[in-house]
Amino acid sequence: MAQGRKLRMGMVGGGPGAFIGPVHRMAAELDGRIELVAGAFSQTAEHSRAAGEAYRIDSARAYANYVEMLDAEGKRPDPIDFVAIVTPNHLHLPVALAALEAGFPVMSDKPATATYAEVLQLEKAVAKSQLPYGLTHTYAGYSMVREARSICASRRLGTIRKVAVEYLQGWLSAPLETTGQKQATWRSDPALNGPGGCIGDIGVHAFHLLEYVTALSVESLNAALRSVVPGRRLDDDCTALLRMDNGATGVLMASQIAAGELNGLRLRVYGEKGSIDWRQEDPNRLRVKWLDGPEEIRHAAGGYLSDDARVVTRLPGGHPEGYVEAFAVLYREFADALVAWHQKKPNSLPATLPGIRAAVRGMRFIDRAIESSKSGRWINF
Ligand SMILES: NC(=O)c1ccc[n+]([C@@H]2O[C@H](COP(=O)([O-])OP(=O)(O)OC[C@H]3O[C@@H](n4cnc5c(N)ncnc54)[C@H](O)[C@@H]3O)[C@@H](O)[C@H]2O)c1
Repeated sequence: MAQGRKLRMGMVGGGPGAFIGPVHRMAAELDGRIELVAGAFSQTAEHSRAAGEAYRIDSARAYANYVEMLDAEGKRPDPIDFVAIVTPNHLHLPVALAALEAGFPVMSDKPATATYAEVLQLEKAVAKSQLPYGLTHTYAGYSMVREARSICASRRLGTIRKVAVEYLQGWLSAPLETTGQKQATWRSDPALNGPGGCIGDIGVHAFHLLEYVTALSVESLNAALRSVVPGRRLDDDCTALLRMDNGATGVLMASQIAAGELNGLRLRVYGEKGSIDWRQEDPNRLRVKWLDGPEEIRHAAGGYLSDDARVVTRLPGGHPEGYVEAFAVLYREFADALVAWHQKKPNSLPATLPGIRAAVRGMRFIDRAIESSKSGRWINF
């Protein structure tokens, strides 16, 4: 089952004017393994239908809401194989629970849920269902991030002693939410977004990237979250000091009021013998610096890269791959996991694809950072 045909995706969210839904559709379909066939794309039946037309799916499969989609798809001879969740955060949990309950695997966007309490509910539901659950921490899909991960695992840097991760954006420098701008409006509303503003939107990506690349865990943190733009109800600027479980220390900066910055995600990891430096806005290069040797600049698709980096590369060097391709790597790994699951192979999610463990860690990070900021103290993870 599911071999020799495309896997069928049903999407919740991604309606007219949405940001990430169309990216999921492009990424899922990039490698020819998956096709979007159904969806509950928006809050209203009319908008969902309009999105279905734009995506060129069968109009009967553009549903008014996700409950209807799960019910109708469950009755079809050719139902969807999984549900992709690309709605504002407050819907991640209810949609995931309903999908798992109906027997559909889930690929969700981050943050996994709106609150930490919710992710614990989700964790139980995933365990009970035994269904694959993937989480699209996009940056885990870049080949040079896989290379950085492989370098850390090889221990060539020696013991890691210092980490610095920053995710700087400037698009919320003005009160965009008061203009009705779609993405800013729900992100600034605690009921739709959850309690962590910038920390939940992009801080959690930075946190995931750090733990993903280094294989270290944050053990304690001291965070300062601020709401800089007058009237804004959630944090838009965050700085956290970190202690890692091997004794390394670090800093995590996330800001959406860093005027002039676009999508400035950058990770630096310093070991005893050398360091790595990766920037999302120049994703096909990885700088590796040595205490006793010249600096290296590694390029995506280089024949000298680790297998981990090369298997997620599609094009020869100098033909840039980027955001959509990184997303597509995660979808390709999810497709593999679904095929394995159809073949009754348990625990089929590869270690490279973020799943429920990353979901729980990420929500814990947001929760701990908020708590630390309120108390002004170091807090254990
Ligand atoms: N992985 C990444 O790099 C990345 C990037 C951007 C956003 N995201 C995440 O993706 C999610 C969506 O963000 P966005 O920026 O695309 O938001 P958006 O506002 O652009 O899109 C959200 C979509 O969900 C739809 N929606 C709302 N309620 C719905 C309902 N009840 N049923 C069906 N659809 C509904 C909206 O109509 C809209 O089409 C968020 O959780 C966000 O954190 C992840």
